[in-house]
Amino acid sequence: MLAKHHILTSSDILTNFNLQTDFSLLKVPRVIPEGNIETATEADLEGIIKLANRLNSFRAKNAPEVFLPSKEVEQVEITSLNNTFQDPNSRILIKKINGEIAAFATVKTYEQSGSYCFKKEKRCDLTGIYVDEKYQRQGIGTELIVAARNYGKSNECTFLGLSVYHFDGNNLDFFKKLGFKPEMTLMALKVSQKSEETTSNSESIDNPVIRIKREEDLKNEMEGIVKLRVYLSSVSAEYEPIHHKEANDREAVINSIKKGTHDPSTLYIIKINDEVAASAQMTVYHYDTSVTHLLKDKTTCFITDVAVDKKYQRQGLATKIIKAVFDDASHTEHGIVELSVLEKNKKARACYDRIGFKPLYTYLGMEI
Ligand SMILES: CC(C)(COP(=O)(O)OP(=O)(O)OC[C@H]1O[C@@H](n2cnc3c(N)ncnc32)[C@H](O)[C@@H]1OP(=O)(O)O)[C@@H](O)C(=O)NCCC(=O)NCCS
Repeated sequence: MLAKHHILTSSDILTNFNLQTDFSLLKVPRVIPEGNIETATEADLEGIIKLANRLNSFRAKNAPEVFLPSKEVEQVEITSLNNTFQDPNSRILIKKINGEIAAFATVKTYEQSGSYCFKKEKRCDLTGIYVDEKYQRQGIGTELIVAARNYGKSNECTFLGLSVYHFDGNNLDFFKKLGFKPEMTLMALKVSQKSEETTSNSESIDNPVIRIKREEDLKNEMEGIVKLRVYLSSVSAEYEPIHHKEANDREAVINSIKKGTHDPSTLYIIKINDEVAASAQMTVYHYDTSVTHLLKDKTTCFITDVAVDKKYQRQGLATKIIKAVFDDASHTEHGIVELSVLEKNKKARACYDRIGFKPLYTYLGMEI
């Protein structure tokens, strides 16, 4: 375990990472500008905030429809960086050149809680990384990522993850070249942008969407929903065996379904021939994470656990349930519907693309 103010030296960095391979992949000069990666102290905060704000204002201009206005971005970023600095599970890594902050990265370690379909593991997330324009393309970004990886490893994390906004252009390629693999994409669609025309070609089933908002209404449906969730977990475990597991704890599955009926969540099902043919859950929640803290929309109708029985797929059931969520969202003040989809789940991605969802950010990661 590194001491709180341990300074990462170049040799720390080189010991645990094949720097040479990564640099040849990146085609950047091998001689990185002088200066070690250090842990930021309070005296560095002002310079870090200045750098972050310059880059964030640029982003706010490039993606005004999703980003907070520049003035608000500044305030939010100051609070966020101060919180990161205080948080014992986080660290701000910096690179100084000629006494000025040339680049910084923020990292955070956390336990991924084991829900019915997620494995328990300790992860390290790179929650931000910024390199001053005049020092870009010189290998400093890579150097910071290596340091982040070492920080994660020394804190017993087995995975290094990060989220990349899609409107940030080339950044996805940068991380992919370094060996990060896309794991899941967060997709969003504003209720006002949802087109009424979005129907699946094969939408042929008239059975209505049933909303379940109280635990006591689950009685007759529980077995059918459990079956679909177990099926969903097996699909996810097949796509992402490292982090997902097939649901084997029935109690945990039942609890997750019950939670779906507790306000502000709703369970949606479609029944065919008296069996549950499709189900999904929607939860309204307010989020403020390192990925979303600079975005305008923070309250969202989040759809999870979409699953359609194999024999009823490609008949428009998932589309019908998702449309029902939009109908409900249009009667509330929550203007955005979101969901996440595993990178390898091409079927689900095709379904969400067709409805009109757009990728907002992708979560990438690597084993460390
Ligand atoms: C993904 C899933 C929910 C889709 O449900 P569905 O009811 O079959 O989807 P729909 O009939 O509403 O499909 C709508 C559109 O999605 C796309 N799509 C759906 N399944 C597809 C497939 N197997 N291949 C290609 N495109 C597909 C098509 O564009 C389709 O429209 P079309 O039939 O007019 O061409 C279903 O396949 C499923 O339950 N999979 C296993 C669990 C899962 O992966 N859940 C998603 C978790 S994020």
